[in-house]
Amino acid sequence: MRILITGGAGFIGSHIVDACREAGHQPFVVDDLSSGSRDNLPADVPFFEVDIRDQPSVAKVFAEVRPEAVCHQAAQMSVSRSVREPAFDAQVNLLGLVHIFDEAVKVGCQRLVFASSGGVLYGDVTEPADEDSPAAPISPYGISKWAGEKYLQFFVNEHKVQGVALRYANVYGPRQNPHGEAGVVAIFSQKMLRGETPRINGDGRYDRDYVYGPDVAAANLAALTKTLPEPFVAFNIGTGLKTDVNQLEEQVRKQVLRRLAADGRKVELAPAEHGPARPGDLRSSVVCAKRAENLLGWTPRVSLEEGLHRTVDWFADHAK
Ligand SMILES: NC(=O)c1ccc[n+]([C@@H]2O[C@H](COP(=O)([O-])OP(=O)(O)OC[C@H]3O[C@@H](n4cnc5c(N)ncnc54)[C@H](O)[C@@H]3O)[C@@H](O)[C@H]2O)c1
Repeated sequence: MRILITGGAGFIGSHIVDACREAGHQPFVVDDLSSGSRDNLPADVPFFEVDIRDQPSVAKVFAEVRPEAVCHQAAQMSVSRSVREPAFDAQVNLLGLVHIFDEAVKVGCQRLVFASSGGVLYGDVTEPADEDSPAAPISPYGISKWAGEKYLQFFVNEHKVQGVALRYANVYGPRQNPHGEAGVVAIFSQKMLRGETPRINGDGRYDRDYVYGPDVAAANLAALTKTLPEPFVAFNIGTGLKTDVNQLEEQVRKQVLRRLAADGRKVELAPAEHGPARPGDLRSSVVCAKRAENLLGWTPRVSLEEGLHRTVDWFADHAK
């Protein structure tokens, strides 16, 4: 299948490119490289350096590629930037999204998959939230993800295509961008590998559901290919398990010490410092992914321990 992946040069998008190729599909990538990198992609993947805000250029790509499915990952993905620059957030995450879906249906694309966010949609939840939990987005980023799902439903109803929204929990893994929702894993890994002291915001008692990037790519592949019972389905993609930032710091520390010892490097790692709390940070966010298990046949495969092992190794191998 010809699959156009927006944001394919980014963290999650590039893992989706890998998963699509492994399954025998032909991926095409649109990305403006604002946070992604060409190095994340195999050299032979057709690549279009286009800003999704630029409608004529988006239209040209679709006319050339004529994809059968679109996997829309490109986004302004910083919650704090969305608070500082809500208009910029809406230009990329709403107007850009409309350009992608509008041009997709014009060339007969039959399936639209969208990277939404369970991490920001459900607000503060202490028990795993299912997809029917009320949406309570607070930040412009969360609001644009919620509105993005509504736009997707419009295109599904109007053009009789299949639409899938994947509401990711906090995604981490190799190639991760430190500015994203689960950026803390990248930040801790890079700092500790350099022998620097990590800083925890506030008391660190902020629970999150950490899901491994290549597992999220597998969920996208299923969303792009499986027959579904409804024209529009939203799925949570997470583990249902909570880890707070203090526990996460301990687990990253363990993996960094393992790796440094294996490399024969002697580094004294000072205990983490606690800085001021970040205003607006949710205390707890965790999702229930039973629907994805039932309808997509998807479950997370990689435990947090194994995922952090691989992630720390990747950052050590790619240290600049
Ligand atoms: N990482 C997480 O924990 C997480 C959680 C929930 C949802 N998401 C969503 O998943 C998607 C992928 O996020 P990621 O973590 O891989 O981030 P990322 O920054 O690595 O990937 C986003 C990609 O989009 C590209 N991009 C940004 N603006 C663009 C524009 N105007 N035109 C074209 N390309 C543009 C970037 O260059 C980058 O390659 C995003 O939609 C994000 O909102 C991520």
